[in-house]
Amino acid sequence: MTQEGNKVAVVGGDGIGPEVIAEGLRVISAAGISLQTKSFNLGGARYLEDETILPDEILEEWRAFDAIYLGAVGDPRVTPGVIERGLLLKMRFELDLYINERPFVAADHNFVVIRENTEGAYAGEGGVLRKGTPSEIATQGSVNTRMGVERCIRYAFETAMKRRKHLTLVHKTNVLSFAGDLWQRTFDELATQYPEVVTDYNHVDAACIYFVEDPARYDVIVTDNLFGDILTDLGGAVSGGVGLAASANLNPPRTSPSMFEPVHGSAPDIAGQSKANPIAAIISGAMMLDFLGFDQAASKIKQACHDCASEQGSTTQIADAVIAKL
Ligand code: IPM
Ligand code: MN
Repeated sequence: MTQEGNKVAVVGGDGIGPEVIAEGLRVISAAGISLQTKSFNLGGARYLEDETILPDEILEEWRAFDAIYLGAVGDPRVTPGVIERGLLLKMRFELDLYINERPFVAADHNFVVIRENTEGAYAGEGGVLRKGTPSEIATQGSVNTRMGVERCIRYAFETAMKRRKHLTLVHKTNVLSFAGDLWQRTFDELATQYPEVVTDYNHVDAACIYFVEDPARYDVIVTDNLFGDILTDLGGAVSGGVGLAASANLNPPRTSPSMFEPVHGSAPDIAGQSKANPIAAIISGAMMLDFLGFDQAASKIKQACHDCASEQGSTTQIADAVIAKL
């Protein structure tokens, strides 16, 4: 099947990244979809070779692509934060990937977290004074703009309309009174435009308990960047493990390519041994197909992945099992 809008930049990255992405691409072809792919060597290993992280020329080149399919980046030999900020966060910010969508499906629940992806504590606001002295001061602010909060919450309402029409705002409005108030007011205002959607609110600490004790209460959750980061690791843990957790970093107006990646990291300890579970990468690939308009192939792959959720074996064997179910 051919279709326009299928130019995909592939970044295998570090550790298990290239292994799981190779299986994701194999499953996509097995589902009958042919993508125009181009590989880019980026990540910790590349940084150690030539000290480049994400050159502006590559960012510019990517603007002509429809999507980016990324394995994992990070290398224990590189100072923590360098690749995260220089590559992943730079992509999210420069390409304005303002939605981070993370679905969680298990026998007794099926919900999706819509995480704001360009603001909050990730914005880099703050600084340090008197570093290394006993009177050192460090601040790290949370940036919340009306525009950023509104477009994220709107996307969450739109998502809820396509699902079971239930949306929960997760925040900490009882303590984060300035940011929480902006989120709550924006949420309440948009709710009047989506009267069919039943809305709810949970403090983030309470949401952690519900994730473990009663995840079936959720359909769509919308939350800020840092709460979303933490909650989605917990979401993975209660939904069969992080080896199954997929994500889409989306630019909904499609003014730049969206990026699709498993939630897990590069797991250097098991790299090159065919031990990594490729399911998270395969589902991320299916989310990419969905976004590119191949919705039938996407749902076939997602269903096959859920059927293989408890499959054991090598990276390749698990992907083979998924392909056998297509
Ligand atoms: C994630 C990761 C990233 C984040 C890190 C690697 C910067 O944990 O995608 O959840 O915090 O967003
Ligand atoms: Mn995370």
